[in-house]
Amino acid sequence: MVSSILVTGGTGFIGSHTCAALLNAGYDVIVLDNLSNSDSSVIQRLGQICGREPSFIKGDIRDTSLLNTLFQEHSVSAVIHFAGLKAVSESVDKPLMYYQNNVGGTLTLLTAMQLANVKTIIFSSSATVYGDPVSVPITENFPRSCTNPYGASKMMIEDILADLYTTKSNWRIGRLRYFNPVGAHASGLIGENPIGIPNNLMPFITQTAAGLRQEVSIFGNDYDTPDGTGIRDYIHVEDLANGHLAALDYLNQNRELLTVNLGTGQGASVLEMINTFEHSTGCQVPYRVVGRRQGDIAECWADTKLANHLLGWQANRGLEDMCRDAWRWQLRCLRD
Ligand code: NAD
Ligand code: UFG
Repeated sequence: MVSSILVTGGTGFIGSHTCAALLNAGYDVIVLDNLSNSDSSVIQRLGQICGREPSFIKGDIRDTSLLNTLFQEHSVSAVIHFAGLKAVSESVDKPLMYYQNNVGGTLTLLTAMQLANVKTIIFSSSATVYGDPVSVPITENFPRSCTNPYGASKMMIEDILADLYTTKSNWRIGRLRYFNPVGAHASGLIGENPIGIPNNLMPFITQTAAGLRQEVSIFGNDYDTPDGTGIRDYIHVEDLANGHLAALDYLNQNRELLTVNLGTGQGASVLEMINTFEHSTGCQVPYRVVGRRQGDIAECWADTKLANHLLGWQANRGLEDMCRDAWRWQLRCLRD
C-alpha cells in the first residue's frame, strides 16, 4: 500500500495550498475536513491545479471511530494538522467550543495516531503565542503568552506535543508558528473565502476594492511605528505551504521536536499594504482611520534564521505578489 500524508483541515485556506504543494511534489494526500469553514469544491479545484485530486473524507477530528477506521484502511506516513477554529473574537465568546475543537480534537487525533503507530505530525501554531513581544524580530525562544482562548488553545497544543515528544521520543513533531498568511494560489483557483465580515486585513482590502465593503477601517494610526499603523509579517500562502514540505523533509531525516517561525522576516504597515495593493492592482481602496482594535499589538515580525538554516526554506514572494494573487482570487469569487 502506498503511504499518504493525512491533511486535516485540508479544504481550508492554508491546508488547500499545502495539498497543492504536496500533490505537485508527488505525495499521495488524504484530506479530512468537516467543512465547517470550507467547501468541498476545493477538492476538484486541486485536481485542476495538480492533475490529480487528493482523497477526501468529510469528517471531524473529534470522531475517534472515524479516525481509527481511517488509519486502519489507509497507510499514513505523516499528518499535517490544520483543522481548527481560528477567529479570535469568537473564541472569547465561545471558549468551550474552541477548547473542545482545537485542543480536544488534537488529543483525539494524537491518540488515534499513537494507536496506529503513526508518529510524525506537523502542527499549525501561530505567532499569536508570542503575545505582545518585547522586541522585533521575534525568535523562537521568546517567552510565550496569550490573551484569548484561541491563543491559549495554540499554547496548550504546543505543550501537549512537547510532552508527547518527551515521553515518547520516537515521535517526530513540527510546531510551525505562522505569521500573517495572505494571498492565494497563482492559478486563481483556490484562496481564502471568509464567511461573513472578514476579521483580517487582506480579505477586507480585496472585498473593499471589489465594492463589497465601503471602506477599510484602519485600526489606529497612533502606534509607535513609522506611519503610526500596525506592522505585521505578511507571508504568501504558497510560500507558507512550501514551508510544510520543507518541515516534512526535515522531520523525515531528523527525529526531533521542531519549533520554527514561518514568516518573511519583513514587516509591513497597514498603510503600506493598502498602498501596495493599489499600485499592484490599479484598484482604489477607500479607508478611514478609526480607534485601535482591542488586543492588537503595534508590531510583529519573525526572525526567520532558524527556518532558513534548518529547513533550507525561505519565503520568496513579495507584497505585490500577495496583493495581485489575492485580487485575482477575489475576482474569481465574484464570478463564481
Ligand atoms: P481555515 O478555517 O481556512 O481552515 C481550517 C479548516 O479546518 C477548515 O476547512 C475547517 O472546515 C476545518 N476544521 C475545523 N475544525 C475541524 C474539525 N473539528 N474537524 C475537521 N475539520 C475541521 O483556516 P486556515 O487559515 O487555513 O488555518 C489553518 C490552521 O492554521 C488553523 O489551525 C489556524 O489556527 C492556523 N493559523 C492560521 C493563521 C491565519 O492567519 N490564517 C495564522 C496562524 C495559524
Ligand atoms: N487591521 C486593520 N483593519 C482591519 C483589519 C486589520 O487596520 O479591518 C490591522 C490590524 O490592526 C493589524 C493588521 O491590520 O495591525 C493585521 O490584522 P489581521 O487581523 O489581518 O491580523 P492579526 O495580526 O491581528 O492576526 C492574525 C490572525 C491571528 C494570528 C496572527 C498571528 O488573525 O489569528 O495573525 O499569526 F494569531
